[in-house]
Amino acid sequence: MTRMIRIFDTTLRDGEQSPGAGMNVEEKVMIAKQLARLGVDIIEAGFAYSSPGDFEAVRQVAQEVEGPTICSLARAKKEDIDRAWEALKGAPKVRIHTFLSTSDIHLKYQFRISREEALKRAVEMVQCARSYVDDVEFSPMDASRSDPSYLYEVLEAVIEAGAGTVNLPDTVGYASPQEFGLLIRGIGERVRNSGRAVISVHCHNDLGLAVANSLAAILEGAGQVECTINGIGERAGNASLEEIVMGLRTRKDFYKADTGIRTEEISKTSRLVSKITGMVVQPNKAIVGANAFAHTSGIHQDGLLKEKSTYEIMRPESIGLVQSRMVMGKLSGRHAFRQRLEELGYKPSDDEINRAFDRVKRLADQKQEIYEEDLEVIISEEIAKIQERVQLKTLYVESGTNQVPTATVELEIDGRLVKQTGTGDGPVDAAYRTIAAMTQTKSRLLTYSVKAITGGTDAQGEVSVRLEEGGKTAIGHGADTDIILASARAYLNALNKLAYWASKQADPAQKVGLI
Ligand code: KIV
Ligand code: ZN
Repeated sequence: MTRMIRIFDTTLRDGEQSPGAGMNVEEKVMIAKQLARLGVDIIEAGFAYSSPGDFEAVRQVAQEVEGPTICSLARAKKEDIDRAWEALKGAPKVRIHTFLSTSDIHLKYQFRISREEALKRAVEMVQCARSYVDDVEFSPMDASRSDPSYLYEVLEAVIEAGAGTVNLPDTVGYASPQEFGLLIRGIGERVRNSGRAVISVHCHNDLGLAVANSLAAILEGAGQVECTINGIGERAGNASLEEIVMGLRTRKDFYKADTGIRTEEISKTSRLVSKITGMVVQPNKAIVGANAFAHTSGIHQDGLLKEKSTYEIMRPESIGLVQSRMVMGKLSGRHAFRQRLEELGYKPSDDEINRAFDRVKRLADQKQEIYEEDLEVIISEEIAKIQERVQLKTLYVESGTNQVPTATVELEIDGRLVKQTGTGDGPVDAAYRTIAAMTQTKSRLLTYSVKAITGGTDAQGEVSVRLEEGGKTAIGHGADTDIILASARAYLNALNKLAYWASKQADPAQKVGLI
């Protein structure tokens, strides 16, 4: 019999704790919608108490995303649980996830409370969360470094208090697979009411073992795993969703377990998360890295040509890697465009369709064929668009041999048109210096990268930049067949995000910490 394992995705909460991976509310809603298409069971949309931005993200995801259960993290404190409920209430399927450390190291040095006090607080806060919702999860933080006897005592008490899921975090990525598996096995043996709760695990990757530990836990009876897209998360990250899901799917014969994930959506979800967070996926990353399905050895290629199963354990199609398909051309109309987006799983508003369609038409003038990936970037930019204080109206750049690169930029800043000319070390530098002077930004450019979205010299270039100002960072993206234009868009996108976070005090980096 195949057991179905619940996938609890924490890309929007723990994933966002990756340094510099802050997302705004619109971006989080967009990722959450894609996670729903991917078929995750639970989305941890944020930590409502931690900041106004997180509260709003949890609230909007709960209101707008259909399918998965939507969850907010809350420390074992009444004010956190009240705030989580405020953000979740009114939505059909919600969960409060509360947590408190159980390891002596944390209790002694960080929380400065006794084991007895921690147990009492955990029980009271589970009861408090249950007064609002039926679906409550409790995590004994740093479980893998806790005394197992005390840990099991806490689990029994919180299950008695009404926790339907108990989640064992390997908070600092310290566990090894055999050891972690035994800890999970012990729950069945030593926690008398364990049959009344789903056992979950949440593994960090400090020693590169997050996925191995999660799979070992599944073998010992865990029914839920917490993970993130591309394995992003605090420090070295969390267990990667795609690796766990494809591990189980590919070796169902061994694990006797599977998930409800629509694996064909994996590749697209990975690209979206990478684009929005600015966290580049390493080329040799399992499942979603650019080289994951690239065979270069002659011997392997020879075998593959004769019979795919000689060297291929998964089909690229199973994670949604298909030959780029031409989806629109110069003559395609708005109706066909809407239809294509709906086929791709987007349900944009009329306003979003109009903005995106104008860009597609402009692109079609420059590029004969438009591929699915082109639509993906345009749509993700237009749908996740925040209120922009500064908009690019026109840009002219002159550069070449024996010429000082010069940019003339026209911007609309808070509804006012301004134009200025400036120079720089190259065409992008000229554009950036001019925009910086016009907007009087004090931000610093930390990174700049450019990649081609599809093949060919007429491909759209996608530029990503990371800016820093006063300790806050923002990632901006821009895409166009003209790299300089794409660069200007990316820069303005990041500047607008910094302004947005300043106005909403919703900078993800400025949140209340986890203790
Ligand atoms: O790693 C951890 O312990 C966590 C908890 C809040 C579940 O993220
Ligand atoms: Zn974590």
